[in-house]
Amino acid sequence: MMNTKVRDLLNQQINKEFYSAYLYLDFSNYFKAKGLDGFANWYMVQAQEERDHAMLFYQYLQNENQTVTLEAIAKPDKVFASHMDVLRAGLEHEEYVTSLINDIYSAAYEVRDFRTMQFLDWFVKEQGEEETNANDMITKMELFGSDPKSLYMLNQELAARIYSAPSLVL
Ligand code: FEO
Repeated sequence: MMNTKVRDLLNQQINKEFYSAYLYLDFSNYFKAKGLDGFANWYMVQAQEERDHAMLFYQYLQNENQTVTLEAIAKPDKVFASHMDVLRAGLEHEEYVTSLINDIYSAAYEVRDFRTMQFLDWFVKEQGEEETNANDMITKMELFGSDPKSLYMLNQELAARIYSAPSLVL
């Protein structure tokens, strides 16, 4: 039997990951409106990855014979004053998600739920990559964002990102 606190946190994480997908779709929407299709693509792929994360939590709970409860997804309601604002919101959000994964891990550790800990290991690593990516975006914007030609090149680079399914299979 899965500990109820661990189960509830895993269930909540489904919603948090779907919200992440929604948030990044909103980022994509922002950049599309600004004519930066490469950035819009990058965040569209990010949204797809977040949907995958949500489905991994969903699948894990189902595999463990736990009842899944789907809650309403919050509206992404931030208004951005600049491109950099969006990128900083992305980093802040990933740091928040890392803290959520750590909280679930702690709860699983407390009750010696080794299976959940093993499942979460992939997410611990993934969050490291997510934060690195978010930081890289900020650095690139700091370096190239103020020069139109450089921003054009950066936009081209980000247009090349393609979606690939997660390496974790349940
Ligand atoms: Fe699902 Fe961006 O963490």
